[in-house]
Amino acid sequence: MFRSVVLGCGAYLPSKTLTNTDLAKMVDTSDDWIAQRTGIHERHIAADNETTSDLALAAARPALEASGLDARDIDLIVLATTTPDRTFPATAVRVQKSLGMESGAAFDIQAVCSGFVYALAVADNFLRVGQAKRALVIGAETFSRILDWTDRGTCVLFGDGAGAVVLEAKSEAEAAGRGIISTHLHSDGRFQDILYVDGGPSSTGTVGKLRMNGKEVFRHAVQRLSDVVEETLKANNLTSDDIDWLVPHQANQRIIDSTARKLGLPIERVVSTISRHGNTSAASIPLALAEAVGDGRIKKGDLILTEAMGGGLTWGSALIRW
Ligand code: UT7
Repeated sequence: MFRSVVLGCGAYLPSKTLTNTDLAKMVDTSDDWIAQRTGIHERHIAADNETTSDLALAAARPALEASGLDARDIDLIVLATTTPDRTFPATAVRVQKSLGMESGAAFDIQAVCSGFVYALAVADNFLRVGQAKRALVIGAETFSRILDWTDRGTCVLFGDGAGAVVLEAKSEAEAAGRGIISTHLHSDGRFQDILYVDGGPSSTGTVGKLRMNGKEVFRHAVQRLSDVVEETLKANNLTSDDIDWLVPHQANQRIIDSTARKLGLPIERVVSTISRHGNTSAASIPLALAEAVGDGRIKKGDLILTEAMGGGLTWGSALIRW
């Protein structure tokens, strides 16, 4: 068995930003309401000609560079997205082509906001059993394309972006304690109607728009995230004192604060980007990782706990020795 060690990460945000004040000109909302209820001040929005694969590619390139690798060194791309360029082929194969890769396997994962944690778990399992040697794991979204811009309850929450990490399979000895330690995935389809898109190729033949019962999603998020965090610590005989950084999915600052509080983790050890990114779904965790690695907060050897919950419902966590 091998260990999946993180070699490097990268991120990309579209240049256009949309502030709360901009949104207040579009729907009946205010900077105060959005900031107080969510912690969001602005979000990035993809340009008209920018697709999810463009964002993914722009995050993958710096991740490869940080890893000291060429695209030809990669033999697996797992891309988490809910907003693919096309119904098919997978956005991952478009990235594969753009990177100039002519071998390996590439596919998408659909677990909405938990997508990156799911993708990390899938890639980790490929690497552990030796089915791939080096994986590019990407979370990329253009949620702006599936928002109902007349619904103030949802359109103020989301943004576009992408993040990527490169994993390499190393022997236990080579890994020397580093790498993905454990992943924990859950879903419960009974709650699919509290957060969904009201379209799809097999139902309406349209793309559809995001619909959410925010209060219900909030309630589930607070409970399930603290449960999965507890499950992760217990499975590894750890306490919150052992965690250097909590890197949560960025849906709402109040959800992030609640998880940190339940974990007894000071807010200084929590990476939060929601104020500037909004909720970028599957991209939020790798975006936050890239930011905290880039500014020197996350260092080699740090113990990182990531968690997410999203439509499905899906939720999960990953514990990584960076
Ligand atoms: O990534 C995973 C998926 N997403 C989430 O995890 C999001 C989870 N949910 C949430 O973050 C919160 O539920 C929201 C931020 C979506 C909403 O916050 P809330 O504190 O639960 O507000 P609410 O939905 O209970 O609405 C309170 C009031 C309502 O007005 P009334 O009925 O009290 O008169 C809403 O109509 O706020 C109103 N409202 C707004 N007002 C100004 C809802 N959206 C807005 C808005 N601006 N954008």
